[in-house]
Amino acid sequence: MATGQVEGVRRLDKKALFADLGYVPHPGQVAIHESHASRRIVACGVRWGKTLAAAMEALAAAMEPRDRSIGWVVAPTYDLAERVFNQVVLVVASHLRHRIVSLKEHDRRLILRNLGGGISEIRGKSADNPVSLLGEGLDWCVVDEASRMRPSIWENHLSQRLIDKKGWGLLISTPRGKGYFYDLFKRGQGNDPAYQSWNMPSWENPLLDRAVIEQERTRLPDGVFKQEFGAEFLEGSGSVFRNVRECATGTWKAPEYDARYYAGLDLAKVEDFTVHLFMNKAREVVHFERYNRTDWAIQLNRIKTACDRYNKAYVLVDSTGSGEPMYEALLRAGCRAKGYGFTAASKAALITSLALALEQRQIVLPRPELCPVLIDELEAFEFSISDSGNTRTGAPSGMHDDCVIALALAAWDLRPEQRRHSTTITHFIR
Ligand SMILES: Nc1ncnc2c1ncn2[C@@H]1O[C@H](COP(=O)(O)OP(=O)(O)OP(=O)(O)O)[C@@H](O)[C@H]1O
Ligand SMILES: [Mg+2]
Repeated sequence: MATGQVEGVRRLDKKALFADLGYVPHPGQVAIHESHASRRIVACGVRWGKTLAAAMEALAAAMEPRDRSIGWVVAPTYDLAERVFNQVVLVVASHLRHRIVSLKEHDRRLILRNLGGGISEIRGKSADNPVSLLGEGLDWCVVDEASRMRPSIWENHLSQRLIDKKGWGLLISTPRGKGYFYDLFKRGQGNDPAYQSWNMPSWENPLLDRAVIEQERTRLPDGVFKQEFGAEFLEGSGSVFRNVRECATGTWKAPEYDARYYAGLDLAKVEDFTVHLFMNKAREVVHFERYNRTDWAIQLNRIKTACDRYNKAYVLVDSTGSGEPMYEALLRAGCRAKGYGFTAASKAALITSLALALEQRQIVLPRPELCPVLIDELEAFEFSISDSGNTRTGAPSGMHDDCVIALALAAWDLRPEQRRHSTTITHFIR
C-alpha cells in the first residue's frame, strides 16, 4: 500500500455494511467510499448527498473491528454539526440499535460496540468553539461544509489530532472561493498519494430532479448557481463585500471640533450584540462600540453619551419592531435619531449601497487588528439560498451581522447624492 494510505480500514466490508444499513450510494458517493487516500477532499454541489455520505463514512469507521477507536464529525457551526451527528444517530437508531453502548445527545457523544467487539466513539463537534477541539488523538475525522470553516481550525486543530494515530480525514463541502479548502482540493488533484479529491456538481446525484435544477439555474444569479449547484470554485462569488481588507487601513479618531458625524445603530435582539459605529464625512470609521446583555436604560445612556461626544452625531437606527421603542427613547433623550424601516427590499438597498462603497473603496475601515470582529463579519457576510429557495444575504449560520448592519446604517446618509439606488445586489455577483 502506498504511503499515506490508510492502514487497517480495509478489514471492514463497507459495501456489505452499507447494504445492511439500507444505503445505496450513488456513483459519486461510491468513488469516495472506495478511496484509500488518508486525506479525501470532496467539493460538491448542494443536495449532492454530502452529509449522508459523510455520516456513512463515520459509521463505517466506527464499525471497524478494533479494541478502541475514536473519531469526530465536525461542522462549522453548532446547527450544522448537529445535523451531521443527528444523521449518524438516525441510522444507528434504525439499524444498529443493538450496538449502542451509550448515547448522550446533548454532548453529541455516541459509543458503539464495533464489529470486533471493541468500543468505538463518535463525537459531534462544532468548529465555532475551538477550545472544544483540543485534546485527544483521533483515528478519523469527517468535516462537513468544510469550506465554511476558518482555515486555522483544520490546520491547527483537526489535522493535528490525526497525526499520532495516523488517522484519516474526509473534508466535504460546497466550494466557497479559493481559500484553504481549495488548496487542499488542488493538492488532491496532484501526485501526492495521501490526498485525493473530487469535484462534482449537484446533478451528478441521480436522485435529484434535473428539472428542479434547471429551474434554479434560470432563477438564481449566475455566480450563485455556479458555486452552489455547479460546485465551481469562484473567487469571492459567495461573499457580498469585496475589498474589505483593502479598505481596512484606518484608525480610531477622537471627535474634531465642528465636524459632523454619522452613526449607525444595530440593537441586540436576544442572542446578539448592540453595535454603534461612527463615521466622519470622509467616510472613515472613527469610533465603534459593541456589547451585549446590557440593561436597556444603560444602553440608551451609552448611545446618547457617544452621540453627544461626537458633536451630536446623526444616528440612523433600525426602527422596525423591537427597535422602535429605543428609537423613540433616543428622540426623547434629544438625540438626532432617524429611523430606518427594515423590509427585504430596504435591507437589500442598504447592503447594496455598502457593497458598492466598499467595492469602490470609498470607505475607510479600522485596521483588522483594531476591530477584528467588524472585518470578520464583513468577510463572512454571504449570499445563500434559503429553504424556500430565495437568494438572501446575511451572516453564515452561527455568526452575527450586527457590525455589518451598523456600518451600513452609518454609511447610508454618506452615500454620494448622485448615486442611483436602482442597482441591485445581483450586480456584484460574477
Ligand atoms: N445514496 C443516497 N440514497 C438515498 N438518498 C440519498 C442518497 N444520497 C443522498 N440522499 C438524500 O438526498 C438528500 C440530500 O442529501 P444530503 O443532505 O446528504 O445532501 P447535501 O449535499 O449534504 O445537501 P446540502 O447541500 O443541502 O447540505 C437527503 O434527503 C438524503 O437523504
Ligand atoms: Mg449537507
